[in-house]
Amino acid sequence: MSKSKSSFICQACGAVYSRWQGRCDACGDWNTIVEELADSGVGAGPKSAKAGGRPVELMPLSGEIESAARIETGIVELDRVTGGGFVMGSAVLVGGDPGIGKSTLLLQAAAALASRGKRVVYVSGEEAASQIRLRAQRLGLGDRDVSLASETNVEIILATLERGPTPHLVIIDSIQTLWTDRVESAPGTVTQVRTSAQALTRFAKKSGAAVVLVGHVTKDGQIAGPRVVEHMVDAVLYFEGDTSHTFRILRGVKNRYGATDEIGVFEMTTLGLQEVSNPSALFLDQRDEGAAGSAVFAGMEGTRPLLVEIQALVAPSPLGTPRRAVVGWDSARLSMVLAVLETRCGVRIGANDIYLNVAGGLKVNEPAADLAVAAALISSLTNSPLPTDAVYFGEISLAGGVRPVVHSSLRLREAQKLGFASVVTGRLGPGDKTSGLEVSEFSSLAELVGRIAARGRKVAVED
Ligand code: TYD
Ligand code: MG
Repeated sequence: MSKSKSSFICQACGAVYSRWQGRCDACGDWNTIVEELADSGVGAGPKSAKAGGRPVELMPLSGEIESAARIETGIVELDRVTGGGFVMGSAVLVGGDPGIGKSTLLLQAAAALASRGKRVVYVSGEEAASQIRLRAQRLGLGDRDVSLASETNVEIILATLERGPTPHLVIIDSIQTLWTDRVESAPGTVTQVRTSAQALTRFAKKSGAAVVLVGHVTKDGQIAGPRVVEHMVDAVLYFEGDTSHTFRILRGVKNRYGATDEIGVFEMTTLGLQEVSNPSALFLDQRDEGAAGSAVFAGMEGTRPLLVEIQALVAPSPLGTPRRAVVGWDSARLSMVLAVLETRCGVRIGANDIYLNVAGGLKVNEPAADLAVAAALISSLTNSPLPTDAVYFGEISLAGGVRPVVHSSLRLREAQKLGFASVVTGRLGPGDKTSGLEVSEFSSLAELVGRIAARGRKVAVED
């Protein structure tokens, strides 16, 4: 193979091509394919694999189990998402938009562990040590025993980490700034990011330190995103939120040592990230009580119930093609709910402009939100405010039925805890009933529509 052989790699997903093209066939992104030298790095395969083909001892499946040693930070919302603390010898990727608060979160985690007597090394390729110190001081963490380094070369970082006692936790902020001598591509390219992440993951396994890699999610795909290293790390956490709102959600999307569907909720304040232990109260804090078009959805995030307000605005459209704007929910799902309302319930809603918003900037993915969305839409259409003490959940089928959803009892309990008096849902199982809440069960959406519309002044339902 000639030394100058190059390949073309998509910087967003890592797909490899033999020639340049404008659009990546694998992920569909435009202008993400960049020429990189193929004779080094990941594309060339591990050269050392051939050396010393020493066999290993095969082991029976039914052996002794060592439970993974974990280091708890004491930040409950973070420990919940990692499954009880960072696992020693594991690599964790923390991804998120630039400016969302990844460095702040990890600096706080580092400080928390340091005050529990753990050795923590924070390596930043983005900020100078004095900038990190300044941030720590502002957060009131200036006196914690965390070792800092400002470095981007992987070999130097590894040499530094291997000197002296092995740290318990190493934070690398961020993988996009790293570069290794072993490959010739520019920093930030897929080959560099992958090779660097591989070297650090290997360090984690070999040394027993927990390694946290920070990765920026990039929308334009010009810099290799965290997606290209997701498969090599043991856990992937995404830090999300809307920068115009103060709350942030840490979401586990992969975890070899725990459940993946957990979330941690934080609020960004002038004193850094504060844990939010009762997120429902936060999301319902500024609810427009008594306004038409507002429904409270009793949702679930992982194993946690979470109440959020769904707001709908249905207004006559001056346009030939009415406008649909959805924030925090799936627009295809909205179209489905609208189609069911039109066809199965006889509601003339399609010719209106429709705006749907999940309050607080939260993203809701559950089909269980269908019923709350439908209730909010009908409430707005008929100008009939929903009872302020009611919560809604249930999946709507294409036939117009309301299907029961999982974790009904947890949702009911959360609603009761927050002072709600009634719940509107599909048919519940016998074990799901909670005393104290008035439960209205609907097996068809049309029944619910009729009830909401009957309360309104302007009834837009056909006979
Ligand atoms: P940062 O952790 O630097 O984000 P990332 O590492 O994900 O790029 O967070 C940057 C933002 O957080 C910045 O806009 C300022 C804000 N912030 C606060 O509001 N309060 C604070 O105490 C700190 C440290 C940051
Ligand atoms: Mg940062």
